[in-house]
Order: sequence, then structure tokens, then C-alpha cells
Amino acid sequence: MSTPKDFNDRMLSLGLARVAEQAAIASADWIGRGDEKQADQAAVNAMRNELNKLEISGVVVIGEGERDEAPMLYIGEEVGSGGPGVDIALDPLEGTTLTAKDMPNALTVIAMGPRGSMLHAPDVYMDKLAVGPGFAEGVVTLDMSPAERVAALAAAKGCEARDITVCILERPRHEEMIAEVRSTGAGIRLITDGDVAGVMHCAEPHITGIDMYMGSGGAPEGVLAAAALKCMGGQIYGRLMFRNDDERGRAAKAGITDLDKVYSRDEMVTADVIFAATGVTGGSLLPGLKREPGWVETQTLLMRSRTGSVRRMVYRNPH
Ligand code: FBP
Repeated sequence: MSTPKDFNDRMLSLGLARVAEQAAIASADWIGRGDEKQADQAAVNAMRNELNKLEISGVVVIGEGERDEAPMLYIGEEVGSGGPGVDIALDPLEGTTLTAKDMPNALTVIAMGPRGSMLHAPDVYMDKLAVGPGFAEGVVTLDMSPAERVAALAAAKGCEARDITVCILERPRHEEMIAEVRSTGAGIRLITDGDVAGVMHCAEPHITGIDMYMGSGGAPEGVLAAAALKCMGGQIYGRLMFRNDDERGRAAKAGITDLDKVYSRDEMVTADVIFAATGVTGGSLLPGLKREPGWVETQTLLMRSRTGSVRRMVYRNPH
């Protein structure tokens, strides 16, 4: 899909950064306060408010949930004050528990592309596998075992398995995967939440020390991570996972018929997009929000896939 002329990614990108910044600032009062819901709500309100100032006719395709479960930023909600038609994928607070506990890598995340550019992923789990840029397409695949993936990536990098570090969400469902990766000699960075950041870590291994991400997490987060890697470079593969008929029904509602399909990055995000993420709590990708009496400072990663440009923007404002 080529980029339509009315999707002015260059002009829209600063607006997108503001949306991510304001969501982060709104969640500031909830960092370390033990209340996930309030932290999320504050970010949702601010993100929606700021989005509605943008001159776009936006539709939320990845959002807070179905219309009957989420009063704001639900899937299908129209946002913006009028302008070019765009699709929006967002997670106002990726890592609500991380924020509530003041643990690393909570982010506000938003991506925007032309209409029809992003997979309408239902709110189910997705099996994910990601590596950074510079490898042949399909260097690792979802059909390989975890140990085979480590061996294939080590061979492609020209190193030993013990030189590879894999990022995995710490969950009981990943115990076997973790044991198998460890049996190869590779290291594992376990994260308690936040797999959008987990995947993004693969794109900058020299900074983060992470070579590969694997494991299951939210499908909406998978599409957001695909948007990030489309800008930063790197591969991500995702396969939706269904636990019951209700979840299969969600896929049908989203227009998905092939339930076993493996989606590549460019099948999840089919056109050029812009992506912004602001650090809420500090992590290896972005520093966290800083507060001083009367002031707040944030750092935002703002990226455009069309040009591959990556900006890190510091924003300081009275608060
Ligand atoms: P929230 O921001 O909604 O808390 O999601 C955090 C998260 O860790 C995601 O990054 C991840 O995709 C998902 O939850 C994993 O789901 P689960 O906690 O059910 O394993």
C-alpha cells in the first residue's frame, strides 16, 4: 500500500508526540501509587483530549477495548477535529502495573497511518517473535522451537548461543520456553509487563543488550510493536491465540477468517506509519518522566517509517 498524499506524516508527527507526552504527564501523579486503574484512566483522558485537537478524521483500530467495555478510546471511536482519514493504534499506558509499582519501562504509545493500514487485532493473545534489523527475512520463525531460534540467530550473528540475550514476559505459561532457552546457554531478560517495549528493545541491541523477543502477550500490543519496528527496522511475527469461542468470535468480528495465520510485520502494518512513545517510568529505551516543583520533563521517541527517522524529544513545561 503506497502512502496516500493526504497522509502528511511529516506534519502530523509533532501532533502525535504531543498526544503521547500529555498522556504520560497525566499519569505522573499515579506513578508508584499502587492504583493501575486511575493511572490508566488519567492517561486515557489526556490522550483522547489531545487527539481530538488534531486536524484528522481518525478511527481507533487498536484501543482500550470493545465499545461495551471501554467508554473512551474504544475500537471504532472516531477522534480528531476533522481532516485526512487515518487509523490509530494506541495504548495510553502500556504497563499499568509497572506504573502503579514504579517499575521500569512503562510507556504511553500511539501509532497513526492511513485508513486500512493496521491489522484490526482482536483483544486476544498473540504468540510473538521479534529480532532487530540487519538479518535476512525469516532468520527465525514461529515454527522453530525456542532453542532452534537461539541457534539460528547466533549463526546469523556469527556468535555463540551464550552471546544471545532473549527477552521474555515472566509468566507461568512461559516456563517451558524459559527453560529451553536457558538450556542453550543464552541469557534471558525477564520482564514482568510491557511487551511493546520488550519488542522495541530488539531494534537497539547495542543500547538495550536484547537480541530477540519471544512469547505470548496481547495481540493489540503486537500490532503496536510492529508499527514501532516498521520505523526502527527489524522483524516481528505474530500468530493469534484463541482460548475459547468468545475469543474466536472476536476475531470474526474483526474480519479475521484464517485463525492460524502467521502475520509478518508488514502484514500487521501495511503502509507507512508514524509512531510516538513517551517514557513514564525510566527504562533502557527511554528515561522516565521527571518532576520538580512546578515543572515536568518528558522524553518522547518520535519515528516515521517512510524516512526511518527517529527523534528523541525532550519536553519541559510548567506543571
Ligand atoms: P497493560 O498495560 O494493559 O497492563 O498490559 C501490560 C502487558 O504486560 C502487555 O505489555 C502484554 O502484552 C500483556 O500485558 C500480557 O498479558 P498478561 O498479563 O495477561 O500475560
